[in-house]
Amino acid sequence: MDPWLLTYDGFDPAREGLREALTTLGNGYFATRGTVPEARADGTHYPGTYVAGCYDRLFSQVAGRSVDNEDLVNAPNWLPLTFRADGGDWFAPGHAEILTCRHVLDMRQGTLSRLLRIRDRRGRVVWLEQRRLVSMDDPHLAALSTTIVAENWSGTLEIRSALDGRVVNDGVARYRGLNGRHLVPICAHASHGVIELLTRTATSRVEIALAARTTLAGGRCPTGTRGGGGERVEEGWVGDDRAVEVTAGEEVVVEKVVALYTSRDRAIAESEAAARSAVVRAGSFEALLKRHRRAWERLWRRAHVAAEDTGVQRILNLYVFHLLQTASPHIAELDAGLPARGLHGEAYRGHVFWDELFVFPFLAPRFPEITRALLRYRWRRLPEARWAARAAGHSGAMFPWQSGSDGREETPELHLNPRSGRWLPDRSHLQRHIGLAVAFNVWQHYLATKDTGFLAGFGGELLLEVARFFASLATWENGRYVIRGVMGPDEYHDGYPGRAEPGLDNNAYTNVMTAWLMRRVLDMIALVGSEGVSREEIDRFTGMTRRMRVDFHDGVISQFEGYAALEELDWAAYREKYGDIRRLDRILEAEDDTPNRYKVSKQADVLMLFHLLGARGLGEILTGLGYEWDAAAAERTVDYYLARTCHGSTLSAVVHAGVLARMRPGASEPFLVEALNGDVGDLQGGTTAEGIHLGAMAGVAVLFETP
Ligand code: BGC
Repeated sequence: MDPWLLTYDGFDPAREGLREALTTLGNGYFATRGTVPEARADGTHYPGTYVAGCYDRLFSQVAGRSVDNEDLVNAPNWLPLTFRADGGDWFAPGHAEILTCRHVLDMRQGTLSRLLRIRDRRGRVVWLEQRRLVSMDDPHLAALSTTIVAENWSGTLEIRSALDGRVVNDGVARYRGLNGRHLVPICAHASHGVIELLTRTATSRVEIALAARTTLAGGRCPTGTRGGGGERVEEGWVGDDRAVEVTAGEEVVVEKVVALYTSRDRAIAESEAAARSAVVRAGSFEALLKRHRRAWERLWRRAHVAAEDTGVQRILNLYVFHLLQTASPHIAELDAGLPARGLHGEAYRGHVFWDELFVFPFLAPRFPEITRALLRYRWRRLPEARWAARAAGHSGAMFPWQSGSDGREETPELHLNPRSGRWLPDRSHLQRHIGLAVAFNVWQHYLATKDTGFLAGFGGELLLEVARFFASLATWENGRYVIRGVMGPDEYHDGYPGRAEPGLDNNAYTNVMTAWLMRRVLDMIALVGSEGVSREEIDRFTGMTRRMRVDFHDGVISQFEGYAALEELDWAAYREKYGDIRRLDRILEAEDDTPNRYKVSKQADVLMLFHLLGARGLGEILTGLGYEWDAAAAERTVDYYLARTCHGSTLSAVVHAGVLARMRPGASEPFLVEALNGDVGDLQGGTTAEGIHLGAMAGVAVLFETP
């Protein structure tokens, strides 16, 4: 087994979406799923191209309400390339018998190749080899090289190369009730072998320009139109048809070089002209490939994580590969955050959550220019976060749980439980701990770079504004600082049974991390000075390092105040009845019940503290807060939540594997295996097809570099 190759033999319609997601190629600026070029979205295939930071907001009617949702836009498809023999049908999925089908993702050089042999209804056999790249060297370029051989026939071979702007956001079944028509066609042209398509996003009005240059070698031109001539323009679509005479066994090579620009790009006059001149100037596929390979070589020198086992090595390569395709050094030039599901699909609408918390430990020491760029994305949205804090009656900056273009809260108001068919209120925006993740990332970046200029500048501003928010969110009650009405990382609890007001009080993760944050802000002040921070603020921050409230029951940390009073779930009965109970929230809701009643967690919540702070670090904070804490309490707490967590997020296995590896080497194995297989094995019930789980991928890589 070659640890750099991911190979798919044969065609399995049920797993095609997964293959497409895992063979996505990208460069941080844009990414394109590994969809076959002749396919359209048809329930099996899903062509998706996503440009970092390119969002659009639309209104939809659901459950009798008008709701708005901002999506990472599915950009026009640059892939379309098909062929036909002697005026027959254009080759499309299902139109011919597949004799051989193989896809190989080469992670070392960043290419996807495909081998296909098909036979049409008249017995004509065609052999086809395709290679594609999305350039890591020039982030605006992509290319597709296709070699076609008419094996057992001679005649006319026609090729159609196109750009398709008629795509919509339709990649996630659960969202199909929502409006996904984000692209407005503007114009299309074709001349001299170059086709161009200009579209605009509906409400954010970002122009997306594609240009493609198609060249053909081999065969004989019947009409002398090798350089073009068969151009066709339709609304939102442009194609270029070519015909050559071929004899059996002869090779025809078609190269399609594509450029993608948007009106948000720098150093351009306008996107269409930029795309046109880029394809005209771009070299051949081989020339582009050479530079692309070199760029990947440079990345791998900085990013490779070694494992002993070849199978494990291949998964690590795959995960680091997808991480770098989403957050490559090219994002240093962009205003883009890190979508939780990569640039690989439409799950969570391309929104940015807290998942970069799992990515920073990997990227900050290796690519601080990338982590800096991700923090700049947050920093540019400080005014919005300040406004949100003000609107909620607080000071400082309140970052949104889900973030998109302008940094407003993008968490949907309603979400669909596919099991019950009901639209339900989504309260996950109450995960205020997102700000703590931003602050933690600031500190990670600082530790990796020791850049005090960063702390004295925008990094420190982020830290301070988040600290101010938590200082104002906390109230003083009975000798302790308390935080009411929030949610922890465990999204299955969004309120108390019988209490109308959503949210939980004194989530231990939030409160302990707040104490951690206050310590770091004081460290920062010691390092770079206290300019702009008042004495009262410093006193408050100091007080919060000593007096945040944490609840305990049965000798363990309580996930939140009142947790002890919840009922135990009959785990065995649920496992017996449903098998896979990762999505207990959906199961219980469909039974007209709610996880709020039970001691069940979707994912690590209390254990996140062990993950981020280590058992020692957590102990220091707890004792600093005046609580009694020792190794036995730590052990009890780990056991307690291990028994009550159903791992409904890919992040959960990563955290459990890491925590156990440090505390009980040997016991982490099952979680490590689950974390490793999360995306390659598609363990979260088919969700990888809708986009990779970037936090888990990075988290796995980190697990393997930790001694
Ligand atoms: C998890 C969150 C995560 C989000 C995006 C959810 O299922 O519960 O912790 O941020 O997915 O990956």
